[in-house]
Amino acid sequence: MEIIKKSFGKEANLFILKNDKGTELAVSDQGARIVSLKVLVDGKLRETVLGFDSAEEYSEKDPYIGSSVGRFAGRIKNGKFSIDGKEYQVTVDPETGHNLHGGYGFDKYIWQSAEQVEDDRVSVIFTLESKAGDEGFPGNLSVSVKYSLTNENEWVVHYSAKTDEATIYNPTNHVYFNLTGDPSQAIDEHVLQMNANRYVEVDGDVIPTGKLVDVKGTIFDFTTGKQMSELFAGVASEASGIDGLDHPFLLTEDAPQVTLTSPDKKVTVEMTTDSPSVVVFTANFGENGPAMRGTKLADHGGITMETQVPPGVTDYPEWGSVVLRPDEAFEQETVFKVVVEE
Ligand code: GAL
Repeated sequence: MEIIKKSFGKEANLFILKNDKGTELAVSDQGARIVSLKVLVDGKLRETVLGFDSAEEYSEKDPYIGSSVGRFAGRIKNGKFSIDGKEYQVTVDPETGHNLHGGYGFDKYIWQSAEQVEDDRVSVIFTLESKAGDEGFPGNLSVSVKYSLTNENEWVVHYSAKTDEATIYNPTNHVYFNLTGDPSQAIDEHVLQMNANRYVEVDGDVIPTGKLVDVKGTIFDFTTGKQMSELFAGVASEASGIDGLDHPFLLTEDAPQVTLTSPDKKVTVEMTTDSPSVVVFTANFGENGPAMRGTKLADHGGITMETQVPPGVTDYPEWGSVVLRPDEAFEQETVFKVVVEE
């Protein structure tokens, strides 16, 4: 196992982590992001995630792809939340009036980095200090995300954080999978299975309505795997008008909670998390997909598994808690295991 460090353009670095199976995980300190995850399939390396070739491209085209999102992943309605009865106003997007992914968030910063080689894994630990008042959020927040690649072909994402004042923290990783290795191919023939019995209804602005819906009998039932094309064919009937998935699903504890299989059935990603929900976004970019790796990202050219407390929790506290207090240590872990059919 080894780690190779290279320049990624701008002030950014790329770290390529390799395991004994020939798997290569590339991560960057720009946005503490995953850039690439390649596995050997029939003797050739196959890409499994979306990404660009340089830090500049991320800045210009889409800084969220593969990044660590914070302080709050997803939307905070009107940028308002309260802690212990005190109301806070964070920055809002002037077009939507809501805060998305923390505003000028963690995806846009160059993080500090440290490499670690252990017997069974190679890791890069990224850290960032977010000052009190950053985008309107209270508390000096020290965050870290550790990415490891194990010899079992697991990409382990471990978040930690500490604050000096009560604040909210709800991070995620914004990886998009496309298991064909070709971003110009829609994920239509991928099969998705999720141990999720309920999803969060959202409106046309992707704001949770407050309703948790039983998946049974709906197109959102992935409890027994189904092809994404079935979902895309069915969304026309959806009130939100969202052309695909952009919804939080409430997970059960049965791991792996999510599995995604490539059209040729040779690659499966198994996701296991200690988060209560996953936001699944199917890159509903229509014709506006960016140029990527020498081609153009297809509409529905990727699928995220954003593990977190469901957005909307700031308005519906019964969905969980994202409050972090000075005497607490935030810890959260999600494992993406890539299984290649031999
Ligand atoms: C997702 C969000 C989408 C979109 C995307 C970024 O997490 O749910 O609505 O904003 O991030 O392109």
